[in-house]
Amino acid sequence: MIHPTHYIETSKYKCQHVFALDPTSIPVLTRSLSKEQLRERQQEYGQSLSTIREFMQKLISFLSGTPTYIVTTDKEGHVLDSYGDDSIQRMVTTLGVENGVQFYEEAAGTNSITLAIKYGEPIQLIGNDHYHDCFENVACFSVPFSITKGEVAGTVSLMTSKEHASEFHLGLLSSAVDSIEREINTQKQNQELHVNNQVLMETTPLGIIITNKDGMISDFNKSAQMITGLEQELAIGNRITVLPDISPCFHHVLKEEKPVENIELAFPEQQKTCLIDILPLFNDGVLTGAYGQFKDVTSYIELQNQVVQSEKLSAIGKLSAGFAHEIRNPLTSIIGLTKILEVDKKQTKYMEIIKSELERIDKLVNEFVMYGKPAGTQKKTCDVVSIISDTVKLMHCSAKKKHANLYFNKPSDHVPLYIDESQFKQVLINLINNAIDAMPEGGDVSIDLGVHDTEVVITINDEGNGMSQKEIENFGLPFYSTKDKGLGIGLSICSDIVKSHNGSIGVNSSDENGTSIHITLPYDARNERRPNIS
Ligand SMILES: Nc1ncnc2c1ncn2[C@@H]1O[C@H](COP(=O)(O)OP(=O)(O)OP(=O)(O)O)[C@@H](O)[C@H]1O
Ligand SMILES: [Mg+2]
Repeated sequence: MIHPTHYIETSKYKCQHVFALDPTSIPVLTRSLSKEQLRERQQEYGQSLSTIREFMQKLISFLSGTPTYIVTTDKEGHVLDSYGDDSIQRMVTTLGVENGVQFYEEAAGTNSITLAIKYGEPIQLIGNDHYHDCFENVACFSVPFSITKGEVAGTVSLMTSKEHASEFHLGLLSSAVDSIEREINTQKQNQELHVNNQVLMETTPLGIIITNKDGMISDFNKSAQMITGLEQELAIGNRITVLPDISPCFHHVLKEEKPVENIELAFPEQQKTCLIDILPLFNDGVLTGAYGQFKDVTSYIELQNQVVQSEKLSAIGKLSAGFAHEIRNPLTSIIGLTKILEVDKKQTKYMEIIKSELERIDKLVNEFVMYGKPAGTQKKTCDVVSIISDTVKLMHCSAKKKHANLYFNKPSDHVPLYIDESQFKQVLINLINNAIDAMPEGGDVSIDLGVHDTEVVITINDEGNGMSQKEIENFGLPFYSTKDKGLGIGLSICSDIVKSHNGSIGVNSSDENGTSIHITLPYDARNERRPNIS
């Protein structure tokens, strides 16, 4: 680094010998930007000028008692902004210094602004360091600043009287400019980030909703508007409760401070189905809000239903051979028995067999129709405790006839789940029937309901002889049955239904302890209230 006195000496030499300036004269700054050019230049510096002003006003207030005047210039020395002590202002005005005027050596002589721009370093000129005598009682400090890394964008200068000048002024100004640069840089990054976020938010097909910790919507993008049908203007600034379908999920996340993922949501009016993920947002470990994104999976679900349906139809096609066989057996016996009846009308005992065979055909046809039914489900939030209680009540009498007792270890609170109620009852009926069938001598069937963090587990326990290895291997396989009158379709229907609820079925079985069938269903976050079950 060259010593600053060298800059001053070189400049003074030039002023005297090259520009032939008279040190006793009053400098006249003739070059200036037009009003229009000045406005454009100020706009170019935009936010930076007001950030500089903010910091320098603070500095002025710290230096109360010291007359201080601030001048901000561009990199060519044009004054873009100036403010501060009145007496100094009067002096600079008499010199013709106002916004737009350019500081240049040929007219201003040795001055701190030109030197700071030229050498890219903080410069101080006190009294006679200046070329002109009229500045002998003035102290000027100039520090270059940059907006884009490394490039001088202009200067910030501080003027005061020589008697008030201190050796700390330049350091003070330099550290203020350092802070200004950092602030400008942060603002620039934030702005870029904001623009990127806006672009991302508005172009993504994902619906995005951001709320604060009280559930007030702060961001709601175009895709969210398309999916939910709620106008952006009505959403932003309002509570998440304006979206009753989504609101419980957000409340759940804000309350539990835990994310929820892949929640299926239907928007019937928009005829759309979505999968939604919601994450809690934290700042320094403190909850600040929630971020929700949802994708429209309507066409995917329609396609999935079509695939399931066509798979079913093809399965039914393959099964028809077995089905025909299943029907032909009872039909053959019915035909045979009716022939006997034609000959001997008194053989009424055959009527019973005919009736039971017809019932078997009827059941087979019903189950078959049920199996082939379209996959579309009608899910809604239901209390699984009432569903199990109702089913147990419904089956109580038929169980009694077979010497079986049904027990439901009922929790005290509701357990809301997002399921298709009638399909779910069908699952319970099939499993309870299997449990009763497994106990020809009678016994107890107990049903437990376990509510865990992310899932609900329903267990149906019986005291039967258990399932063999082969029965377990064939679990859920259509038409696999070990019963005389069994169709072997109950477990297959149950598996299908539970799968369509994103759940799973498991089995524990032994000949001493009977069989336990576990249905695991993911807990649904849209149900705000969770029961307190230990
Ligand atoms: N709780 C149980 N204990 C012992 N074996 C069982 C139990 N549940 C199912 N099984 C075995 O699995 C087989 C298949 O059951 P599934 O419910 O699919 O058909 P099914 O009961 O035989 O006839 P249906 O179609 O009338 O239900 C049964 O035949 C039986 O062998
Ligand atoms: Mg069964």
